[in-house]
Amino acid sequence: MATYEKHYCWSVLLRLFHWMFALSIVFLVVTGFYINNPWTNTMIEGSASWPMAIMRYIHFVAAYAFSAAVAIRLFLYFFGNAQERVWDILPITRRNINNLKKTLLLYSYISDEHDERLGHNILAGLSYLFTFIVAVVMVISGFYMLYPEAPFWEGWGVMLFGSQQFARYLHHILMWWFMIFAVIHIYLCIWNDTKEPEGLISSIFTGAKFKHKA
Ligand code: HEM
Ligand code: HEM
Repeated sequence: MATYEKHYCWSVLLRLFHWMFALSIVFLVVTGFYINNPWTNTMIEGSASWPMAIMRYIHFVAAYAFSAAVAIRLFLYFFGNAQERVWDILPITRRNINNLKKTLLLYSYISDEHDERLGHNILAGLSYLFTFIVAVVMVISGFYMLYPEAPFWEGWGVMLFGSQQFARYLHHILMWWFMIFAVIHIYLCIWNDTKEPEGLISSIFTGAKFKHKA
């Protein structure tokens, strides 16, 4: 019978980031859809209360939680523990390149070999890094729309997106990344948890994973 030992893996700050990020996205997507396509008439929408004003208010409160989460992750990419730093998920070492290959083979059902490691597998890590970059674009385009004449946001907004219309267009299109990502992400977490007794899903609550005893 295989024996496992418990290893501390994710800091409290990383878990805080995860749930701030995931929950704020739910609110941002729901209210974002409403801002894009409000269902009431202009008489009601023109009022200072329900529903558009409230939807926008929720969007902006969630946006601040989302932005704080992004700032936490940026900090952890450089000052987090060994599993949380950016170089742990980049295919820049032989071990990481091998892990990327093995994960691709495993996910495409070509091989059964699971490459045990404490941190993220490299494929997952790269998808998280990409999501982080998209999140930064959401923050900049969002604040550019919110404060179009504040010199800081206007400077970045004009430089990156040009017009407000284009920032809004991109803000909308990129929303779909978070929805697609969430579906695949949750599916793969459950898939991995079913196949390997690492305690992957509980690790994002408890911070600990299980590895074969050496
Ligand atoms: C994953 C994160 C986010 C998602 C999915 C999201 C989604 C959306 C969507 C779909 C819209 C409607 C755009 C349209 O008309 O098609 C919107 C509008 C907007 N969002 Fe976000 N957003 C996110 C983050 C943010 C952040 C961080 C901010 C920063 C303040 C922000 C500020 C705004 C503003 C100012 C608008 C325009 C509101 C208006 O025109 O009344 N969003 N968002
Ligand atoms: C029921 C919902 C969810 C569960 C159970 C869950 C579970 C997990 C687990 C187990 C990990 C670590 C996986 C690994 O080692 O590769 C993780 C990481 C992550 N999850 Fe989720 N997740 C959920 C929802 C979401 C949502 C909705 C988002 C955003 C759209 C999200 C974004 C992320 C990100 C960005 C990471 C990487 C953390 C890092 O940067 O190190 N998760 N999640």
